[in-house]
Amino acid sequence: MQQACSLLCGFLLVLGFCAASAQGPEDVLGLRSSFECEDGGSADTRVCQITNLCIVNGKLYLLTAADVAGDARPKIPDIMVNWHAQRLARIEYLDVHQLAQHMAGMQVKYVEQGVLQHVAWANNFYHSMEALVAFAMKACQVFGHCKASEPSAQAPQLIRTEENDLGNPNPAAFDWLAHHPTVAQAMRCITQHPAPHILGLQGQITIVRSAVIGIGRSNRIYSGSLTRPGFHDIYVLPERWLVDDFRERMAQCAGAPTLVVQASDRLNISIVNRGDGAGRHMLNVQETRSRILSDFAQEIDRVRIIRPEELDFAEQLRAYATSSVIITTHSAANANLMFIPKGSAVVEYVWHKDVAPAHDWVVDLLTDMHLNCSLVGVHQQDHRLLEWRREIFYRQPKFEELSITQKLAFYENNEDLTKDMLDGLDHKFHANFHLDWAVLRPALQRAIGAIRTGNHTFNFMPL
Ligand SMILES: *[C@@H]1O[C@H](CO)[C@@H](O)[C@H](O)[C@H]1NC(C)=O
Ligand SMILES: *[C@@H]1O[C@H](CO)[C@@H](O)[C@H](O)[C@H]1NC(C)=O
Ligand SMILES: *[C@@H]1O[C@H](CO)[C@@H](O)[C@H](O)[C@H]1NC(C)=O
Repeated sequence: MQQACSLLCGFLLVLGFCAASAQGPEDVLGLRSSFECEDGGSADTRVCQITNLCIVNGKLYLLTAADVAGDARPKIPDIMVNWHAQRLARIEYLDVHQLAQHMAGMQVKYVEQGVLQHVAWANNFYHSMEALVAFAMKACQVFGHCKASEPSAQAPQLIRTEENDLGNPNPAAFDWLAHHPTVAQAMRCITQHPAPHILGLQGQITIVRSAVIGIGRSNRIYSGSLTRPGFHDIYVLPERWLVDDFRERMAQCAGAPTLVVQASDRLNISIVNRGDGAGRHMLNVQETRSRILSDFAQEIDRVRIIRPEELDFAEQLRAYATSSVIITTHSAANANLMFIPKGSAVVEYVWHKDVAPAHDWVVDLLTDMHLNCSLVGVHQQDHRLLEWRREIFYRQPKFEELSITQKLAFYENNEDLTKDMLDGLDHKFHANFHLDWAVLRPALQRAIGAIRTGNHTFNFMPL
C-alpha cells in the first residue's frame, strides 16, 4: 500500500464512501465500498483503487447502505478500460441489504488484491503477453509486488472484464490461460492465482478487498497506430525501472541470464521459424543458416533455429535472452522480443511491402521496453503472399476433406487446389515463403553493424 500511495498521492484524490473496517463472510451487511482515483482529468489515464468491490453475476458493484440516497453517493468518475474500443468500466451501486438477499445459497469469496483488466485479442499469444505485462506493471506499481523473490501466493489476482470485442468472441466461455499454456506459465512467474473472467465468477459473491481498475498513464498494448491515431498523444512509455524489473523477474523465473550485448561480442544469431502448418513458415532456414555461417563467420558464435511452438515459456525466454540478433517474420511469437538482451538487434522479414506496417508491433515493443535495440525491417516482394492468414483456410471443415497430398500442396503452394475446394480461395496465395538471401544478407549486415557501432535505430529497407 506504500506503493499505492506513491502512485495515488500527489494527484487530486476523489474520495468515496467512508470505508468500514474488515469483515468476515458472516458480516456482509457491514461492508461498504470506497474508492480513490488518480485523477489526471481524463478517463483515458485514470486509475481507481476500490475497497470492497463486489462482483455478482458478472457485474461490478460498489456497496452502499440502504439509507444513502442515490444523489448523495459520490459518483465514481469514468474509467477507460479499453482504449481501442473506447470502453468505460461499468460499475453500479448495490445496497448491502439487496446483496444479502442475493446471497441465499451463494458463497462469499474474498480476493485480497485484484487487478481488473481487459484482455484484448485474448486468442493471440502476442496480445496475451502484452496483457500480462500490463498486469505485472499494476501488480508492481500499485501493490508493490515487483520481484521474483516475492511469494506468488501474496500477489494480486488478474480479473478479466472484456466484453465481446477485439477478438474475444465469448469471454465468459473463453478460458484464457487454458488456451495459452505458455502464457499460463509466464503468469505463474507473477502470481499463482488464476485469471478468471467476471462472467466466470457465477454462483458466488466475490468481494475484492482492494481492486485496481483503469489503464493509467502508460499503456503497453499495441498502439494500433494504423487504425486509431492519437494513442501517443495520450499515453507515455512505461517507466524504465518498471519494465527492467519485469524483465529481470521473468528472466529469473525462467532461469535465463540478463545479458547486454557488447559491441565486440561474437554474436548468437537466431532464426525464429513458425510451424509448417501455421502459415508464414520459412522453407529454407537450414540453407539460410549455412549462408550466415559462411558469410559472417568472423562475427558469429552460433546460429540457432528457434521453433517457439516446440518450447515451453521458460525455454522460449532463454532462447531469446541469449540471442544477439533475432531474424523473424511477423508472428505472435514476437512478444518474446521483450526478453532479448539490451543492445541486441532484430531483423523482421516480411513477404510483401503491403504488410510492412506489421513492423509497428516490434517498434512499439522495443520502444516500450526501453531495450536500446535496433530493428531492421525488410521485405521481399511476392504477390502470391498477400493472403497470409492461412488460419481462415485450415480451420474450415472442407480442409479436413483434402488428401494429404492436397494439404501439402496447400501448405507450400495452392496451385493444385481448385476454387471450390476451400472457401475464399479465389486468388492465388502462398503462405509459406523462402527467405531471399539477396534481401536478408544486407539487412543482417545492417543489424550487425548497429551492434558494432552502438547506433541503435529502427530502419526499414525498401526494395
Ligand atoms: C550465446 O549463447 C550461449 C548459449 O546459450 C550463451 O552462453 C552466451 O552467453 C550467448 N552469447 C551472447 C553474446 O549472447
Ligand atoms: C545503448 O547501447 C549501446 C551499445 O550497445 C551503449 O553504448 C549505449 O550506452 C546504450 N544506451 C543506453 C541508453 O543504454
Ligand atoms: C545511425 O544509423 C542510421 C540508420 O542506419 C543512420 O541514418 C545514422 O546516420 C546513423 N548515425 C550515426 C551517428 O552514425
